[in-house]
Amino acid sequence: MKKLEGKTAIITGGNSGIGFATAKEFLAQGAKVIITGRNEKSVREAAAELGENAFGIVSDSAHMEEITKLAEQVKTITQTLDIVVINAGVGKFNSLENMSEEMFDEIMNINFKGAYFSIQQLLPLINNGGSIILNTSINAHIGMAGATVYAASKSALLTLAKNLSAELTSRKIRVNAVSPGPVGTPLHSSEKLGLSEEDLQSMGESLTKQIPVGRFGEAEEIAKTISFFASDDSSFILGSELIIDGGMYNL
Ligand SMILES: NC(=O)c1ccc[n+]([C@@H]2O[C@H](COP(=O)([O-])OP(=O)(O)OC[C@H]3O[C@@H](n4cnc5c(N)ncnc54)[C@H](OP(=O)(O)O)[C@@H]3O)[C@@H](O)[C@H]2O)c1
Repeated sequence: MKKLEGKTAIITGGNSGIGFATAKEFLAQGAKVIITGRNEKSVREAAAELGENAFGIVSDSAHMEEITKLAEQVKTITQTLDIVVINAGVGKFNSLENMSEEMFDEIMNINFKGAYFSIQQLLPLINNGGSIILNTSINAHIGMAGATVYAASKSALLTLAKNLSAELTSRKIRVNAVSPGPVGTPLHSSEKLGLSEEDLQSMGESLTKQIPVGRFGEAEEIAKTISFFASDDSSFILGSELIIDGGMYNL
């Protein structure tokens, strides 16, 4: 039997990168999958590519008025969920001196506030025994110039995994986190990171030198770990984290 047979999952930010790879992995493991994203065209196209057991919902994690409609949107597809993957996020970097309130709010609103209230809205739909997986980052563990706010948003998710697991033990809902190192996804584009092509290239080279295996990770490698946390194979693991970074942090 496939590991996620009979389970229903939602993946925020599932139209791209790690979220999309996770949707593919979940489908391969027998799950029914809902992906969310903020861009209607990308969500529609991604859901179509994923096939008949995948459904798309347009919902912007930066806006409370959209987050509060999420459960109702989900109920048009399914009444209950077994797996919630909080993956939607942005990577924006700037020094403390140059950080604007606008960029600070964008990062925190999407990466932490949006994550927090998406879970709050979806919680009534999650079956007892369900699994919530938070996509954080290696930046929650290391010091990197320009990453103060991004790292804070991801560190907040790590503590959420522990504290929320403690709140949800009576319902046997487990909350765990994955913390990827650099992964080759559309996030690493000059448009998404707000960097010039030159700066993007030098950042890529600098990061690669810091990864002992000498390469960026692949979205599928993160998806496999998320799938482990989603499945009953990790039934005794809660409030925990797996760092998936080619040895960047530990070696
Ligand atoms: N790639 C890495 O090196 C790396 C490392 C550590 C952690 N992460 C984390 O992994 C997660 C996925 O990133 P990725 O690398 O797969 O990048 P990605 O391809 O850019 O995927 C990010 C996803 O989040 C969505 N998203 C962003 N803001 C949103 C919002 N306000 N509402 C709804 N959806 C929103 C994006 O939608 P759009 O397509 O519309 O932008 C996209 O679907 C992020 O949380 C990121 O911080 C990535």
